[in-house]
Amino acid sequence: MYIAAALSICSAVVLATWASETCHSEAGCCPRGWEPWGGSCYLIIKSGNWDDAWSACLAMGGVMAAPRSQEENNFVADKAHGMTGIHWLWVACTNTRGTWRCGGQDMGGFVNWRPGQPSGGVREQHCAALTSWAYDNYGKWHGVRCNNMYRRTAAACVRRPSQPRQFCLFTGRDGRPVESRCLHGHVVREYPLASATVGLCGRACYNDPRCFSFNIKKYHNGETICQLNNATSSDDPVKFQDSGSACTYFEI
Ligand SMILES: *[C@@H]1O[C@H](CO)[C@@H](O)[C@H](O)[C@H]1NC(C)=O
Repeated sequence: MYIAAALSICSAVVLATWASETCHSEAGCCPRGWEPWGGSCYLIIKSGNWDDAWSACLAMGGVMAAPRSQEENNFVADKAHGMTGIHWLWVACTNTRGTWRCGGQDMGGFVNWRPGQPSGGVREQHCAALTSWAYDNYGKWHGVRCNNMYRRTAAACVRRPSQPRQFCLFTGRDGRPVESRCLHGHVVREYPLASATVGLCGRACYNDPRCFSFNIKKYHNGETICQLNNATSSDDPVKFQDSGSACTYFEI
């Protein structure tokens, strides 16, 4: 009796991450170049005026940071301090007609004004920037003109990390991966992989709306291919069969 499908159960979950992301924990992954800190991802960019910095952060999938604690304030100040030629770091707080708002919200939380600040005028819009070069008033916020093209200015963009993806790996009764069984006849796309990277094939599957499972097939000559399937093994148990070569099957 052919009960191959029943012998395989999804009993293991593979945490796979994209090659372009840094995952420091199961809590999340930061895109390449972004640094994880305090549960978020940070990227320090060199910027011109405040509006340029604000737009640049949005364009990169984040928002300009307005530090919410002394620790976060010091973290971004230290990052900017480490950049050659940077003296200021924009903070996402602006003053419109005398009222300061951070990220569009009334201020109510952490602020780190230098004594005597903010001094931003009522007639002209001012923006907050923290000092990142001098130890005197280091990290303190100042109200400065938003439209000045401060060549020595940076901004901290912050974004939430993405969750690591999990794929279901099928194992036999002994708990070991079934390394020869894949789903046949439902391949909608296939392409070679430089290495047997589960994450890259899984990402392709996530990005293709037709994909419900994928096979990673390894030929004797070492070639590895990623096959995206438009069905799962339970949709078509008969086609969930041994392959002539090493093959590992995953569901998303
Ligand atoms: C799935 O893909 C196969 C080709 O591999 C095709 O024959 C079949 O019609 C597709 N099924 C659906 C539901 O799209």
